[in-house]
Amino acid sequence: MGARSARVQVHLVCGARPNFMKVAPLYHALAAEPWADPVIVHTGQHYDANMSGAFFADFGLPEPHVSLGVGSGTHAEQTAKVMVAYERVLQERRPDLVVVVGDVNSTAAATLAAAKLGVKVAHLEAGLRSRDRRMPEELNRLVTDVLADLLWAPSQDGVENLLAEGIPAGRIQLVGNIMIDTLEMCRERIERQDAFSAFGLRPGGFAVATIHRPSNVDDPAVLGTLCAILESVSELVPLVFPVHPRTGRRIAAEGLLAGARRAGRLFLPEPMPYIAFMNLVFNARLVITDSGGIQEETTYLGIPCLTMRENTERPITVTHGTNRLCAPDQLLASVREILRRRPPSAPRIPYWDGRTAGRVVEAIRGQFAGRAGAAPAEAAPLAVSRS
Ligand code: UD1
Repeated sequence: MGARSARVQVHLVCGARPNFMKVAPLYHALAAEPWADPVIVHTGQHYDANMSGAFFADFGLPEPHVSLGVGSGTHAEQTAKVMVAYERVLQERRPDLVVVVGDVNSTAAATLAAAKLGVKVAHLEAGLRSRDRRMPEELNRLVTDVLADLLWAPSQDGVENLLAEGIPAGRIQLVGNIMIDTLEMCRERIERQDAFSAFGLRPGGFAVATIHRPSNVDDPAVLGTLCAILESVSELVPLVFPVHPRTGRRIAAEGLLAGARRAGRLFLPEPMPYIAFMNLVFNARLVITDSGGIQEETTYLGIPCLTMRENTERPITVTHGTNRLCAPDQLLASVREILRRRPPSAPRIPYWDGRTAGRVVEAIRGQFAGRAGAAPAEAAPLAVSRS
């Protein structure tokens, strides 16, 4: 026990599908450090095997060390349940650092609980802003960043946003995009798969769609219009649309997309594990999405992406990458245009290099220099510029 408690105890909080791929490379990097004791805290926001367990298996993660089991609920219910359950864990375990990732309800809730107990919090993926406060994720990002002690940004625009909000430069560090670490960590296994062949498709001969944002799926009229357009898209290019539970329930209730499915041009599998899903993305001619992470993954891979949203918290994917914001009435024309063009080449974005987890480990080591064998490293250099 003595040796264990001398190590730097780092909680890695994850709750929903897009969190697991952000925690995985950091867990593995910390687990390799003799001075670090990484603890996976799963809030249980996502709980289905195909929204959670399959990701732990793909990433070689152990069972969560702590499971809060909060489940679904309204935003306030879900946030409150995480706060109540996590506060108890924090009081019992007193971690040295709580790392939260992304922008889901679990991110903001764990940050609030830790900050109020005076436990140091670091936010991985800090500083992203859509400037659209109708998005629950934007509120989660704002709350998390104003409370976190350490802000690890994926790109320079994130750094600029934080500085503009008055966050001291000394708390901000540009560490890069952790999801690129995950992708590189899994690349060989992704490339070895052929998930597309289960649908009778060939590389480059299909598109992938994912839609789950409340703004796109909660209003039956909006979802109905979107699905009608996706049916038309599927006449141009076969479409694989793995359905998030939120979307799936509504599609089933309204009997949407039945024609294209019968015609064998549109496939609606359950949510897919990471490796199989990324295998589809690697081989897709284009992607249609409203997800955050997929905008980044397609940019990194040089795959055209049409984002069905009015704004994005990841503008670098539009200015430097392959992403384009797209209104429903522009979708069909945009798909036609992409199919006419030659596929783009993959751009290079600074710090999206598969080495983000290493930079984060060094940042943590710098915070706890001298503790229990953590090399008395100098504080990690700040990569902040005010230009
Ligand atoms: C959450 C995140 C969103 C992220 C998305 C990825 C917030 C505010 N939103 O949205 O940023 O992009 O996850 O998936 O945190 N459900 C299941 N099984 C599950 C999980 C959820 O059936 O394993 C159902 C829930 O009962 C609920 C719906 O899906 O009805 C939505 O789940 P919830 O976690 O509330 O939000 P998401 O829409 O998934």
